[in-house]
This record gives sequence, structure tokens and C-alpha cells, in this order.
Amino acid sequence: MSVAKKDYKRVTTKSLIEMKANGEKIAMLTAYDYTMAKIVDSAGIDVILVGDSASNVMAGHETTLPITLDQMIYHASSVVRAIERALVVVDLPFGSYQSDPKEALRSSIRIMKESGGHAVKLEGGKEIKDSIKKILNAGIPVMGHLGLTPQSIYKFGTYTVRAKEDEEADKLMDDAKLLESLGCFALVLEKIPAHLAEKVAKSISIPVIGIGAGGGVDGQVLVIHDMLGMNNEFSPRFLRRYMDLYDGMKTAIGQYVTDVKSADFPNAHEQY
Ligand code: KIV
Repeated sequence: MSVAKKDYKRVTTKSLIEMKANGEKIAMLTAYDYTMAKIVDSAGIDVILVGDSASNVMAGHETTLPITLDQMIYHASSVVRAIERALVVVDLPFGSYQSDPKEALRSSIRIMKESGGHAVKLEGGKEIKDSIKKILNAGIPVMGHLGLTPQSIYKFGTYTVRAKEDEEADKLMDDAKLLESLGCFALVLEKIPAHLAEKVAKSISIPVIGIGAGGGVDGQVLVIHDMLGMNNEFSPRFLRRYMDLYDGMKTAIGQYVTDVKSADFPNAHEQY
């Protein structure tokens, strides 16, 4: 299906809701630094997520739990300096919002003030309802995140597909409707059955952005290191690799080592 694409000079939370209403799919990717964000933004991405996946791909941790609010602010401020068009959404990291709504608001204010990001994302539904309300009441846009929520990995015990059983699927649907009614501007659904994700997307008016949630939703998000093939240890079924940068970069760096060792680099034109 071809859809007329409106030319948004600057993507806002309102543009995303309009895109859903017009049937235009939303393209979102993660970025964590200035150089990458500049490339991603200039390629026409709608939303950049400064994800707490930085904990994995930037810092090498096994989970997203160790990354701190200060570290998220550092990554987000680097991204914000690079962008001209995309909406920048910043993850509230584990431990920065779960204890009470006041802490959630304080952390969100720090992100907005110190990084210049445009919105925050939190994992969870009903259990964090009061925190979401408090953040929204302060005028800060909130993106929800349901399904596989990596900050709860030690509760789940595994990264397998969520909400396959009716009870969990029903809770997810209720949570999605709750997030919409609270005033969230969009929702990420991670690693759930495609038919459930499509049903959720059709049941609410805010955009649903999927990762491992099939094609029946309003947009897609991937971790940039995964889709560029920089990380060759992670190959879930939902991932499409657009490049093989791991091997490409390794070959280039190997060639540089060879050129330096053999005194081929620098040559007569590469010096003053
Ligand atoms: O941190 C992240 O990159 C995310 C995406 C997987 C949605 O939350």
C-alpha cells in the first residue's frame, strides 16, 4: 500500500499521532552518540530512541540494569546536539522511576533539562500508572513500553516471546488502553505475537511501535548496532541486518594494521 508521506520539517509527538491517523508507518532507531545520531537523523528517521540498550551495546553489560541516569543524560545530550528533524525519546533507566512518582518526575525533569531530549520512555503498565500521571502533569511527553520489558529480565528469567498465554495477553491489552487513557503519545511493544500487537494497534489511537511484534503495528524500532550488523552475537528472528559492519570494520582495521606495519601508510601524499 502506498501512502502519501507528509514532509515534517521537525517531528513532534503530534506528528506521530497524525502519521498513524494517515496510515504512514513510523521509523524509529536507537542512537547513543553525536556522530551516529547525525547520520540517523539525516537519513530521515522519525524518532531516535536513546535507549537504555546503551548499557549493552555501548558499555558491554549483559543487561540494561546497570546504566545510570547520569550516563543516559550524557548519551542523550550527545544525540540532541546532532539532530535537526527527529523526535528524541530518552529511556528512564532502571532505578530512576520505580520507587515513587516523585522520583520518576525528578528523573524525567533531569533528562529534559540536562539533555534537551523531547520525551521519556518507561517500561510497564498499571503498576507505574501514578508515575506516568505525575510526569505527564508536568508537561513531559511519555512513551510507554510493554511486552518484553528488559528492565524486568530477572523477574521473567528469559528473553523469550511474551504474552503468548491469554492471561498475559489480556493484561497487556488492558495496560495499552490504560497508557492511552493516561495520555501517553505512543507505545513500544517488544517481542509479542504479531496477531496480539496488531489487535492492540487497532484498539488504540496512539501509535504502536513494534520490535519483534510483526508488521501490523504503526511503526518499527531496532537497535542501530544490531541492524547495521556491528554486533554479530545477536541474531533474533525479528532482526533484519542491513549491513555487515562487524566484518567490514574488522577488515578495514586489519588493513590499516597491515599498512602501518609495512610502512605503506602514510605515503608521500599523506604527509606535510
Ligand atoms: O533500550 C532500547 O533500545 C529499547 C528498544 C529495544 C525499544 O527500549
